Amino acid sequence: MTEQRLVVLISGRGSNLRAIHQACTSDDLPAQIVGVISNRANTLGLRWCQESHLPTQIIAHQDFPDREHFDHALAMAIDAYAPDWVLLAGFMRQLTEGFVARYLGRLVNIHPSLLPAFPGLQTHQCALTAGVRWHGATVHFVTPELDAGPIIAQGIVPVLAGDNPETLAARVLELEHSLYPQALGHLLRGDCRWENGQTLWRQPYRSPQMQAINPELLR
Ligand code: GRF
Repeated sequence: MTEQRLVVLISGRGSNLRAIHQACTSDDLPAQIVGVISNRANTLGLRWCQESHLPTQIIAHQDFPDREHFDHALAMAIDAYAPDWVLLAGFMRQLTEGFVARYLGRLVNIHPSLLPAFPGLQTHQCALTAGVRWHGATVHFVTPELDAGPIIAQGIVPVLAGDNPETLAARVLELEHSLYPQALGHLLRGDCRWENGQTLWRQPYRSPQMQAINPELLR
């Protein structure tokens, strides 16, 4: 299978970016990261890219008068890499409708909750406050509405007695590092795709997370 081209957008630490890169270099994903774009300078993620010789660009949102101009510059930078997929990995900017429309169906995000529960920020504190017994992460197609696009994959972790937002965040993050590459594998191999605002799975394929939880559900 030909290698597909990934552009990854980050704002900070970049641990999901590293997990995706690891999956590409170990041949788990038929893809290569052709560019990483950050809206912040001097981040851990960018430093790691430089050490790993991944091409990077900084497009600082504060250099632009509004979201439209920032998103336009971002799109120009992305298109120069001619990517098949644009991946948000801890990219802390809300995107305009025009930007989302340009990459619709190949713009993917990971969010640290079981959507539609807890969109937005501070998801781990919200989960603790709500008293849920299970928490997790969601990989989804991006639509203009924040953290609301069609779900591609979800993974769960238990909420344990004595958890605080940090311990819960660490458990979810570890899950994210396998979930995001796994979900991308399904997309890149064509097991599922965007169609008319939904995630369409190739029959008889089903989401592997469902199988992991209870195979009986699929009978
Ligand atoms: C992750 O929890 C991701 O789900 C969220 O932002 C965090 C980014 O972490 N969107 P990292 O930069 O990938 O380490």
